[in-house]
Amino acid sequence: MFMQNLPTKVRINEVATRDGFQSEAIFIPTDKKIEIINRLSLLGLNKIEVTSFVSPKAIPNLRDAEEVMNSITRNPNVTYVTLVPNEKGAERALATNADEINLVMSVSESHNLSNIRMTCDQSLAQFKRICTLMEGSNTRINASLATSFGCPFEGLIAPERVINVIKQYLDIGIQSISIADTTGMASPRQVYELCDQVRNIFPTLDVTLHLHNTRGMGLTNALAGLSAGITQLDASLGGIGGCPFAPGATGNICTEDLVHMLESIDLDTGVDLPTLLDMARELPELLMHDISGQVAKAGLRTETRPLSQSVIDLKARNEKH
Ligand code: COA
Ligand code: ZN
Repeated sequence: MFMQNLPTKVRINEVATRDGFQSEAIFIPTDKKIEIINRLSLLGLNKIEVTSFVSPKAIPNLRDAEEVMNSITRNPNVTYVTLVPNEKGAERALATNADEINLVMSVSESHNLSNIRMTCDQSLAQFKRICTLMEGSNTRINASLATSFGCPFEGLIAPERVINVIKQYLDIGIQSISIADTTGMASPRQVYELCDQVRNIFPTLDVTLHLHNTRGMGLTNALAGLSAGITQLDASLGGIGGCPFAPGATGNICTEDLVHMLESIDLDTGVDLPTLLDMARELPELLMHDISGQVAKAGLRTETRPLSQSVIDLKARNEKH
């Protein structure tokens, strides 16, 4: 039987305005960011990762994080997330009343040093203080494990290292986690095996899978994760995205391609695909470059095209004979 263990409902988290915009060369105007988030808010997405509270020198495109967070129109059915690397970021996020902060640390020490300029122990020490800071607030804490499958500097990552970081996260009071393939190094088998292990060891933990399509395995990896019991995926409109501090990094799995694929196998996402496609088709003009999403270019698989006049004539002739 076809992929028996797939869930019936999949929650989709949109990360284009964070993971996508962070690596864009041209500054995306603040009002455009707000407009995009307001439109995304109406499409049935589970979470929207709005922006990052990071150093504006590290990520210039997200230097308007406060203004964006304070100006969007929030839909109570959507969780608005901001990425946070340190205590200063957590204080900024708290001041904007973010629904959730996404703490980020890499499983690989080399990538954590490159990206956040801290050792993993230094990151964990900050996260511990952030958990205390957040006590009594309405802001939830998710923590990401970047480079969970592979690191551009250290190579493939053993699953035991990921399990170990999850245990450290839970020990300091983190409520949910994201397993991230930051540079698209995961294979479907690796995704299945790690997700299966995580589900067995931490059966009640809320887990998101965050995938990049750097080597063309993104959607296959998503299916591998779903068949191992994952029910929540990050994805990016148009397939934009990538970490500026990881050489060769490219876009996230593409939201509209993901929704299209899941619909094609009758998995419910609750996401408005036609509007998502309209929005993806507007991105090349805004970003001034092509996007990697496929369905925005090809159209839905159920869409048909008109026959050419010569073939219509040929058909008519054949029918006469
Ligand atoms: N928000 C805004 N500014 C911040 C900040 C934050 N969360 N954290 C630090 N800064 C500022 C400091 O105030 C200081 O400013 P100054 O130079 O005007 O005095 C400057 O950044 C350096 O601070 P420091 O604590 O020494 O940071 P650092 O240079 O070691 O860099 C990070 C550490 C985490 C701030 C930086 O590496 C970063 O923002 N990384 C984010 C990377 C990212 O988003 N990657 C993609 C997502 S996975
Ligand atoms: Zn990412």
